Amino acid sequence: MAEQINVFDNVLECIGNTPAVRLGRLAGELQSEVYAKLEFMNPGGSVKDRIARHIVRRAEERGEIVPGGTIVEATSGNTGLGLAMAAVLGGYDSTFVMPDKQSMEKVQALRAFGSRVVVTPTAVEPEDPRSYYSVSRKEVEDTPNSFYANQYHNPDNPETHYLETGPEIWRQLAGEIDVFVAGMGTGGTLSGVGKYLKEQNPEIKIVGVDPVGSIYYDLFKTGKMTEAYSYSVEGIGEDFLPSTMDLSVLDDVVRVTDRECYLMTRDLVRREGIFCGGSGGAAVAGAMKWLKQHDRPGQKVLILLPDTGRQYLGKIFNDDWMRENGYLDDVAGSGTVADLLNGGERSSVFTVEQDRAIREVAALMRDQGVSQVPVMDGDAVIGIVTEAAVLAHLLDHPGAAQEPVSKIVVNSYSVVDRATRIGVLADMFTRVKIALVMENGSLVDVVTKIDVIDYVSKGNR
Ligand SMILES: Cc1ncc(COP(=O)(O)O)c(C=O)c1O
Repeated sequence: MAEQINVFDNVLECIGNTPAVRLGRLAGELQSEVYAKLEFMNPGGSVKDRIARHIVRRAEERGEIVPGGTIVEATSGNTGLGLAMAAVLGGYDSTFVMPDKQSMEKVQALRAFGSRVVVTPTAVEPEDPRSYYSVSRKEVEDTPNSFYANQYHNPDNPETHYLETGPEIWRQLAGEIDVFVAGMGTGGTLSGVGKYLKEQNPEIKIVGVDPVGSIYYDLFKTGKMTEAYSYSVEGIGEDFLPSTMDLSVLDDVVRVTDRECYLMTRDLVRREGIFCGGSGGAAVAGAMKWLKQHDRPGQKVLILLPDTGRQYLGKIFNDDWMRENGYLDDVAGSGTVADLLNGGERSSVFTVEQDRAIREVAALMRDQGVSQVPVMDGDAVIGIVTEAAVLAHLLDHPGAAQEPVSKIVVNSYSVVDRATRIGVLADMFTRVKIALVMENGSLVDVVTKIDVIDYVSKGNR
């Protein structure tokens, strides 16, 4: 009798073993061989099916969830779908808490599985009782027999990728992989796959992709948390450091704008026929940026595409939405920070030491004609001080002029390097006032909004 193939006992068993497809058109010009791993081929349409199955299995083994119990999660949708599927098969109820920037399709899909969905506002602090973290915690407390999947802090999340996705990739490419690229959300994918691949071959490069506005890039480059600000790409980027993210397995982090993510997502479907979501476009856009500096003959690169494009028909694949949000505009942005810096005669960068008195710093800033300045502890940047902060502090605390400037340092800056594109800078300056140009961990220059305006108004793009 012939052996049956591709026949399973239940839908959870078909999770994984997703294909890797060569990007012959988008990356055809490169010397590297670039492959995309299609995680949308999982039954729930995303990579998150993997962690959902593993997290629930582990919870069952530990007796943390019992039949009739309720799985609760704060999720941007994909993890929810995977958990909803696992809940159906395990005989559990499920409740999901989602921020309101998520697409309506994601909410409807969860409801299709019979799950309860609670939508929370995006524009509140994580500590706010209305935030999606706080609301989910309350759901767990108020629901008897509940199990909180907690993908941001559950070690079973990265463990899934360490035990399953990493080995699968290694087998799939017969160990011939030089670079692994994925977006940075909870970090489960990168931390788990990265750890496994590094154990097989420490030479493999692990590259994370982060949206402009998230904390990861700055944290990786400087070791410091900067203030996060909003971006619209779904599923990647964070405003805090989840314990599931192990930055130590990463060799590099690349940053992409929403616009770059979406245009690449559209290119993937139009040029390669690969219909993935915005975080997949982000991963490919980030990989292409990284490869500009690291392309070499025969190098094998695998990029993970987390989910399907179907959930984004109303956004990324809708020309009106793209235009309304300025993503189809022809923006300035082909030059780099290096071009901008070369344009002007720049002397050494103006900084102040952290123990300088606020009064002295205010005088120096006036002399230099700047309204913000980096504050240093030796060679390390500890933050910036702004004219507004000096003024506010002196008004609130008359007599504080002798206090050290370190007292009023803030982290509202972004970090760039000489290769950062002007388009990325322009996007940053809609939220922060200053970008620190860092090279090999040292501050080499600063760029402000006015520098970009000068550069672009001189006819540069
Ligand atoms: C669409 C999408 N892409 C990427 C990711 C990031 O993967 P990870 O959480 O493993 O870092 C997520 C996770 O939330 C996601 O939902």
